[in-house]
Amino acid sequence: MVILRMVKLEDNLGRRFEKLRISLLNSCNFSCVYCVAENFQNISADTLRLSTADRPLTPDEFIRLIEAVHRLTGLKSIRLTGGEPLLYSDLFPLINHIQKIGISDIRLTTNAYYLKEKASKLFDAGIKSINISVDAIDQDIFNSISRHPNTARVFSGIEAAVKIGMDVKLNAVIMRGKNDSQIIPLLEYATELGVRIRFLELMKMGHLYHSENGLFFSEKEILTIIQKKYPIESLPRGHAETANYWRASNGGIFGIIANESTPFCHDCNRLRMDSNGFFYGCLSNAHGEKLSEYIDDDFLLTEKLRGLLRLKQPVKFHGSELSMRNIGG
Ligand code: 5AD
Ligand code: SF4
Repeated sequence: MVILRMVKLEDNLGRRFEKLRISLLNSCNFSCVYCVAENFQNISADTLRLSTADRPLTPDEFIRLIEAVHRLTGLKSIRLTGGEPLLYSDLFPLINHIQKIGISDIRLTTNAYYLKEKASKLFDAGIKSINISVDAIDQDIFNSISRHPNTARVFSGIEAAVKIGMDVKLNAVIMRGKNDSQIIPLLEYATELGVRIRFLELMKMGHLYHSENGLFFSEKEILTIIQKKYPIESLPRGHAETANYWRASNGGIFGIIANESTPFCHDCNRLRMDSNGFFYGCLSNAHGEKLSEYIDDDFLLTEKLRGLLRLKQPVKFHGSELSMRNIGG
């Protein structure tokens, strides 16, 4: 258990770092069209910093960094992401170590391909909450978006997690002409399973950063489609929530993460770390900051964290050359 030496780390909008998202590795067995460029030459953290000798952190290095940041900020929760975190070979020892630091709220974001066989072990290790990307119910559409021939496994993973008692949220990035037909099937699937689903507006990240964003499908359009079939009522938004939520008349609860239409930067409490140990105060910031050399110096580390906090956007995300794969969802 780490003894906290929390300092006042708050910006002029009252934002603090309360949640840390860690991209454990930047590889993935899927190549979702919004995350990976067609020629697979994604601009990555590595290509942006070719001159430095960056390499993936060891589990010990991850732990030392988490410990140092937690000591000063008193993190409330950690979300393990990727790439695909279930591909990370030291996942279970790492979860165990994070618990020992004194952070018990550990969550995971996964594509669920390997979830069926790991759900029970993850639950026992303390992962009680999990976000799963599922962009379509129709197999052909899902396969074409993820560029993977066998997305059917995702559904058995989702169902295993629900059965075991995990709090499951589904995420679907909605793209014009690709999977806007899937909004109702996805909502109905989630409702039947008794889990929340969140529809995401497409964000200009990675290879989409310089694009016209022709695939963009807005919150308003998503709501219009749902309302044609089910009347909806709006639910109150929780502090630092990325999504706004509604209840549909079929009983389903759905959210929309509308970065463009309803930005949510004003109470953002997230700090991110990539697999090479670079920290990002904001998703809009493509150039992370290494903190490893400051972990034994509370004064300098505090100054560095203050600098990262200053990078948060006042209103909304403006895109980034990094994809979610590098920076963590
Ligand atoms: N726009 C919106 N959502 C994205 N994700 C990954 N890349 C993008 C993007 N460019 C989503 C994934 C996953 C979550 C972590 O982020 O689908 O659900
Ligand atoms: Fe993998 Fe997630 Fe990127 Fe899809 S969005 S390729 S599942 S890291």
